[in-house]
Amino acid sequence: MESFVRSVNFFGNCDAERLLEEFGSPLYVYNEDIIRGNLKRLAGLITKYPYTTNYSIKANSNLSLLKIALEEGLNCDAMSEGEIRLLMKAGFTPDRIFYVPNNVSREELQFAVDNNIMTSLDSIDQLDLYGQINPGGRCAVRLNPGVGAGHHEKVITAGKNTKFAITDDQLDTLFEVAAKHDLKIVGINQHIGSLFMNPTPFLESVKNLLTMAKRFGKLEFIDFGGGYGVPYHKVSEDEKPFDFDRFEAEFEKVLDSFVEEAGYVPLFKTEPGRYAFCEGGVLLGRVYAVKYNAGRKYAGTDIGMNILTRPSLYGSWHDIEVIRNGKVVTDNPEYVTVTGNICESGDIIAKERLLPEIRTNDIACVLDAGAYGYSMASNYNMRLRPAEVLITCSGDAKLIRRRDTYEDLFRNFEF
Ligand code: LLP
Repeated sequence: MESFVRSVNFFGNCDAERLLEEFGSPLYVYNEDIIRGNLKRLAGLITKYPYTTNYSIKANSNLSLLKIALEEGLNCDAMSEGEIRLLMKAGFTPDRIFYVPNNVSREELQFAVDNNIMTSLDSIDQLDLYGQINPGGRCAVRLNPGVGAGHHEKVITAGKNTKFAITDDQLDTLFEVAAKHDLKIVGINQHIGSLFMNPTPFLESVKNLLTMAKRFGKLEFIDFGGGYGVPYHKVSEDEKPFDFDRFEAEFEKVLDSFVEEAGYVPLFKTEPGRYAFCEGGVLLGRVYAVKYNAGRKYAGTDIGMNILTRPSLYGSWHDIEVIRNGKVVTDNPEYVTVTGNICESGDIIAKERLLPEIRTNDIACVLDAGAYGYSMASNYNMRLRPAEVLITCSGDAKLIRRRDTYEDLFRNFEF
């Protein structure tokens, strides 16, 4: 693909240069059309059985974007009290929030109980604590189906090497602890990891979870987690999207056998995060300096590792387009290392990347930045987190989060 932003008219009636002039650099920009399209795709993932999609808000928790997910009929999962509070502010009622915490305090679990939020416990100890504060209550448990998958070992959340979930061999203890507190386990969930393009391990995990499900009697719901991948090499290698049609057909077959054998139909759920917003977000930054060291070209931008953490944390690849005077340029390809403005040598967005010639004052447009972009940003080096702007369906730019101010940065200090 020659240019993604051009092919989808990403900036609507605006262009990247004007957006940076108006809202400052760096800047997260989202496209509402793309986002709504992807949310619709997720909401219709399973059609044959009762089904809901819980959007996993850790991928992107911008309030305006959450409201779009609400409008598109999605429910949500939350990992923390902060995420629950935000979802309630966005207008999600408690029955549309599924709380999937890991290693939390009595107070945090109490908050969920007080607000009638369905909670999934991911260890025997947390189940016991939950039972102490909500005896006779209804809850779910997170199980480890024995198979994990993901783009990096740091994001694989099932199988042998993970802190998450309850394994098969602990089920007897789980039932004892639940019985001790008279807890009714009404649902089970899993999440095997983040970003797979090949659905085979996921489908294997689904089969394993459904086998474990049979030990629980009749469940109200079974949640298979998220992880559906996004093609991060769409421009550089013409990578194709996740094949949802094939996936859906195979997924349904696995559910068919469960329903036939188990003799009942629970509510099925999934929990995608990345897929919802990833492709609908780009990150714009300004090139402030071009230099050479030992024959290598460096393009120094204001997109530090605090603004987009994924490349430095996981070595993740994001395609980059070069924009000059508001237009994508594609000529004179050469190898360049694109860096940020943070005081670390690992502050690199793209290493030795073949890109169109980059000059000072160009804009680097980092693709597929709508998920785990802003949500993982920090104030490292006392840098301000950027603003976020939505290109609405009418093509206009709307500010949906302002840039940090220095007052924001200093707010928590004792002066
Ligand atoms: N459900 C649970 C319980 C999760 O922990 C996650 C992601 C999801 C659902 C959504 O997974 P998704 O569909 O987005 O793959 N920061 C990493 C990804 C970490 C994912 C953590 N859990 C990255 O930037 O690649």
